[in-house]
Amino acid sequence: MVQPYKHEPFTDFTIEEDRQAYLNALKTVESYLGKEYPLVIGGEKITTEDKIVSYNPSNKEEVIGTVSKANRDLAEKAMQAAVEAFKTWKKVKPEVRADVLFKAAAIIRRRKHEFSALMTKEAGKPWREADADTAEGIDFLEYYARQMLALKDGVPVNSRPNEYNRYDYIPLGVGIIISPWNFPFAIMAGTTVAAIVSGNPVLLKPASTTPIIAAKFVEVMEEAGLPKGVLNFVPGSGSEVGDYLVDHKDTRFISFTGSRDVGLRIFERSSKVNPGQIWMKRLIAEMGGKDTIVVDSEADLELAAQSIVAGAFGFSGQKCSACSRAVIVEDVYDTVLNRVVELTNQLTVGDPTEQTTFMGPVNDNNAFKKIMEYVEIGKQEGKLMAGGEGDNSKGYFIQPTVIADLAPKSRIMQEEIFGPVVGFTKAKDFTEAIEIANNTEYGLTGAVITTNREHQEQAREDFHVGNLYFNRSCTGAIVGYQPFGGFNMSGTDSKAGGPDYLLLHMQAKTTSEMY
Ligand code: SER
Repeated sequence: MVQPYKHEPFTDFTIEEDRQAYLNALKTVESYLGKEYPLVIGGEKITTEDKIVSYNPSNKEEVIGTVSKANRDLAEKAMQAAVEAFKTWKKVKPEVRADVLFKAAAIIRRRKHEFSALMTKEAGKPWREADADTAEGIDFLEYYARQMLALKDGVPVNSRPNEYNRYDYIPLGVGIIISPWNFPFAIMAGTTVAAIVSGNPVLLKPASTTPIIAAKFVEVMEEAGLPKGVLNFVPGSGSEVGDYLVDHKDTRFISFTGSRDVGLRIFERSSKVNPGQIWMKRLIAEMGGKDTIVVDSEADLELAAQSIVAGAFGFSGQKCSACSRAVIVEDVYDTVLNRVVELTNQLTVGDPTEQTTFMGPVNDNNAFKKIMEYVEIGKQEGKLMAGGEGDNSKGYFIQPTVIADLAPKSRIMQEEIFGPVVGFTKAKDFTEAIEIANNTEYGLTGAVITTNREHQEQAREDFHVGNLYFNRSCTGAIVGYQPFGGFNMSGTDSKAGGPDYLLLHMQAKTTSEMY
């Protein structure tokens, strides 16, 4: 009997044993830095001359590891392996498929801190953020396995006398998983296993800045008993391997998490029917956000300031759910802004291997340059209240930055920055605050800090985001508790960690028998 789902608890690092365990895990990870990882195609480990090198964003001289790099020929080979594997994997019982996920979750739980420590090194995640990423990955494994068990006998439909009708969900076909660097474990693993447990083989192309954690995950799935060819590991460049696989006639669906621009490119390319293709490809896309915390005049202002700071600067603001806009009703604007500045100035920025670090580096030099450009734009469009400095001499560090007095349509308030920058705008009343909150092309997360019940209900109706939170921050959705995904240019609202998610990877078949 499968136990009911419960999310993986976060580690309390004030407990000495857990603190030591994390330090030991960092040592374990340091012992294998620089190792090489092969492609995995049809179970075969393939080493190429061309490599992707993964560096530590806190210390750009340090190599985390290298992975072999797929080209078009190898992508084609992987596609053929997946097409072949589909013939058998789709017939493997859902219980057996779910068991692979349960075993993988158990293996990762045993090595939990090692996975987190690897993200501290490879993605610059401070302890708490890395721990949450690993916990979320375990949650996806546990939750999707149970969801598959719930769907395995289909859904009841009516039958007339002498009739037997069934409504079952069957797999789709080969999926392409293109995963992001910001949740290099949770989203990479979650999108992969959702496809797999639903009966579909996949080609996994992880983000090029965080391929090592993905390689480790692929090893775990093999150890958990996943048959060859079901999970093919093909790191490579977007323009070479990504486009080739998105365009491929045998691709049945694409599960993408990343930027709006890349998502739209995939949307366009995947809608074209190529010679020999006999279906319309499905796209599951999780893209950007420009997420707002609205603060009402009737509100716990300390909670408001804490929520803005946590949402804006957790993992250096590099979450699609990050609070990048604070829209504050004018009566309390100065109080909230000043408190946010005070709290921001207390944050520690530095090496994420140190337990006390709140904020580590940003992802790479491209991210560093882009964010620093936005800081300059912010200084012109508004008033710099905190931060504003960056240093990329050793790693890619940017101070948490607060920009005030922005016009609602300023670039800082409209464009996704994906870094530790939050913009403040004043609203004359609550209704105007919600209007401003809705004025971007995105619709991912949002939060409202208010003690006014009517305003809360107004926001429930009018604040157009996929994940709306009251009296808390706008990041940190939990699998199975707050299914996650957004509206408009934030993607296809495919709610990860939600009860409908697996259905996106399946198609329904009606059978009707007369007797
Ligand atoms: N699911 C994450 C959050 O809610 C973002 O991807 O913060």
